Amino acid sequence: MASQPILFSGVQPTGGGIMLGNYMGAIRNWVKLQDSYNCLFCVVDLHAVTVRQEPARLRELSYRNAASYIACGIDPERSLVFMQSHVPAHAELAWLLTCNTWMGELSRMTQFKDKSAKGENIGTGLFTYPSLMAADILLYQTKIVPVGQDQKQHLELARDLAIRMNNTYAAKAKEPLLTVPDVYIPPVGARIMSLSDPLKKMSKSDDDPAGTVFLMDTDAEIEKKFKRAVTDSMNRIAVSDEQPGVKNLLTIQSVITGESPEACAAALEGQGYAKLKGRTAELVIETLRPIREKVHQLMDDKTYLDGVLKRSAEAASARAEKTISRVKEAMGFVTR
Ligand code: AMP
Ligand code: TRP
Repeated sequence: MASQPILFSGVQPTGGGIMLGNYMGAIRNWVKLQDSYNCLFCVVDLHAVTVRQEPARLRELSYRNAASYIACGIDPERSLVFMQSHVPAHAELAWLLTCNTWMGELSRMTQFKDKSAKGENIGTGLFTYPSLMAADILLYQTKIVPVGQDQKQHLELARDLAIRMNNTYAAKAKEPLLTVPDVYIPPVGARIMSLSDPLKKMSKSDDDPAGTVFLMDTDAEIEKKFKRAVTDSMNRIAVSDEQPGVKNLLTIQSVITGESPEACAAALEGQGYAKLKGRTAELVIETLRPIREKVHQLMDDKTYLDGVLKRSAEAASARAEKTISRVKEAMGFVTR
C-alpha cells in the first residue's frame, strides 16, 4: 500500500449533511479508487468554519461525515478517515501557502464570488479558503484528487501553488518540494443539478431542501422529492440540454446503473415523466437505504468512530510533518 500513489479528498460537514451530489460526484469514486491508491479521506471541518456554524451542529455533522464515508464503502482499515482539525499541519501549511498566493488568484475564484455575494460580513477565511484546500492536498504529496466539477478551479490553484513553491524554494533541489496533483472528475455525475431548479447545482446548503436529496432522507422523503422534481412540458424522455430536468434524472440513473444516460432514456421510451421520476426514485432509494442504515449504526458507536479518527489522525500527522519540515527548511525557517 505504501508504494501506491496517494489520493486525498474531503467533504465539508455543513448544511443538511452529505447529499446525492457529493455521493455521485465524489464519494462513489473514492470507493472505486480506494484499491489502487493510498487514500486519505478528510472531514474538512476547518473549511466548514469559513462561514458561521452552530457549534453543536458542526460537531454532529463532522461525526456524521466520517460515518458516511465508511457507510458508503470506505474501509478504515485500508484508508485514513480523519478530521482536518486533528492535524494542525493543515493550518500551518495553509499559512505558508497563503503567503505565496496572489490576491488576484483568489479574487477570480467562482466559489468565493458565489458565496460572498450572499452575505454581508465576509470572513477573510472564505477568501483564503483555496490556499487551505491546496495545503490539504500538498501536505501528503497527493497524486490524485477525486472531486466534482465545481472544484476544478481550486485544483488548478493547488497545482499552480505546488509548481510555484518548487520553483521558488527548491529550484536546485534534487527532489521537488511538493508533488503536483491531478484532478479526477467523473465522466458522469460530476455536476448533479437541483431537483427543484435543474439550472442550479444540487447543494447541501440550499435554502430550499426540496431540491436536494440527503443521504439521511427517509425513503418517503426521497420519493416525494423526485415526484416533485421540476421537468418541462416537452413530454419526451431524451438526453438534451434543452431539457435540463429530464437530463438530470437520466444522469442520476446512469451513475447508479452504469448504463449511459442515452441507454437509460431508451429504456423508458414512450413512457411519461411520472415513470421517469418513479424509476429514478426507486434506484436512489435502493442505493441510499443500506448506506443510511449503516450511518445510524455507526453514529450509535462513537467509541468506534473516535478510534478510527484518532488512529487516522496520528498516521496522517506523521506524514504531514515530513512535508511541513521540508517546506519550512526550504523557506529559511530555523530548524527546531
Ligand atoms: P461540498 O459539498 O462543497 O463539501 O463538496 C464535496 C464534494 O462533492 C466535492 O468534491 C464537490 O465537487 C462534490 N459536489 C458538490 N456538489 C455536487 C453536485 N451537485 N454534483 C456533483 N458533485 C458535487
Ligand atoms: N473545497 C472542497 C468542497 O467544497 C472540500 C475540500 C477541502 C477538498 N479540501 C479538499 C476536496 C481537498 C478535495 C481535496 O467540495
